[in-house]
Amino acid sequence: EWTMASFAKDSIAEIRETVQDKKVILGLSGGVDSSVTALLIHKAIGKSLTCIFVDNGLLRKDEGEKLKKTLTRHLDINIRFVNAEDAFLKALAGVTDPEKKRKIIGKIFMDVFEDEAGKIKDAEFLAQGTLYPDVIESVSAFGGPTAVIKSHHNVGGLPEKMKLQLVEPLKYLFKDEVRVLGEEIGLEEELVWRQPFPGPGLAIRVIGEITKERLSVLREADAVLLEEIKASGYYRQLWQSFAVLLPIKSVGVMGDQRTYENIVAIRAVTSKDAMTADWARLPYDLLSNISNRIINEVRGVNRVVYDISSKPPSTIEWE
Ligand code: XMP
Repeated sequence: EWTMASFAKDSIAEIRETVQDKKVILGLSGGVDSSVTALLIHKAIGKSLTCIFVDNGLLRKDEGEKLKKTLTRHLDINIRFVNAEDAFLKALAGVTDPEKKRKIIGKIFMDVFEDEAGKIKDAEFLAQGTLYPDVIESVSAFGGPTAVIKSHHNVGGLPEKMKLQLVEPLKYLFKDEVRVLGEEIGLEEELVWRQPFPGPGLAIRVIGEITKERLSVLREADAVLLEEIKASGYYRQLWQSFAVLLPIKSVGVMGDQRTYENIVAIRAVTSKDAMTADWARLPYDLLSNISNRIINEVRGVNRVVYDISSKPPSTIEWE
């Protein structure tokens, strides 16, 4: 009888068999797929696994720190954190075209990852959290279904370049199965139920030019939004929920002062696989709380709008 428990057991045994006493490298993004992959491989080979987490400066509030805490709480797991914020932001300066942003981020990620991976001597395997939908689309390890429309970055060229063999324990699973597997092997709930977050991170949610300041405004607004969504109990029901910083300003009034500040758009969608998505019918009171809190607490924002478009013809992300 096929159960997730037996799948986990077989999978761990198979990894052990394949890898033996060799070293494995894994790019950790903080998402459910790479986290489950890490835990599975860690269970199989322990310290022979080294995870690399690249902080590209495009993460959400406290994301790297939180991940470090969550993953190391119960596990003696090797994780290398690389702070590459400067390299990413420098390369992105002045760039507004979404596809150019993706290409730049993909390229710098590869460079940084390769550099760090190169420091791990005698590694023979590269593990990836590739899922079945990625395999059948065969275009991308990260969010494959829409790669035709948006060029998602991945570490595709790396294995050949570094002469590494691939280990992809999730490649016959769908997203919902990965969450069940995560629960089965004891991954923390917070990671199991994480909404997807795109590789290019906040860069494709700061519409237009990316600066440290604009990233910081979005980061704060997004943190407020997520806090409210989680407190309301909607987080798990939504495929994704996030804030977007628009490249236009609008006039507002605060006290008796005229303001001319940023606009934040809220995006919340339901979906099964990201191929299609519907805008979430969130309660007005929840939207009202989110709007009030963002405008009151985030400096530089005086207007919040709600995105009521579905996919298709819109996409989930704005860029
Ligand atoms: P769209 O916006 O095309 O997104 O409806 C579908 C799913 O893919 C995610 N997404 C990305 N993931 N790199 C990624 O790894 C990307 O460049 C990228 N663009 C979109 C998006 O968040 C959604 O889950």
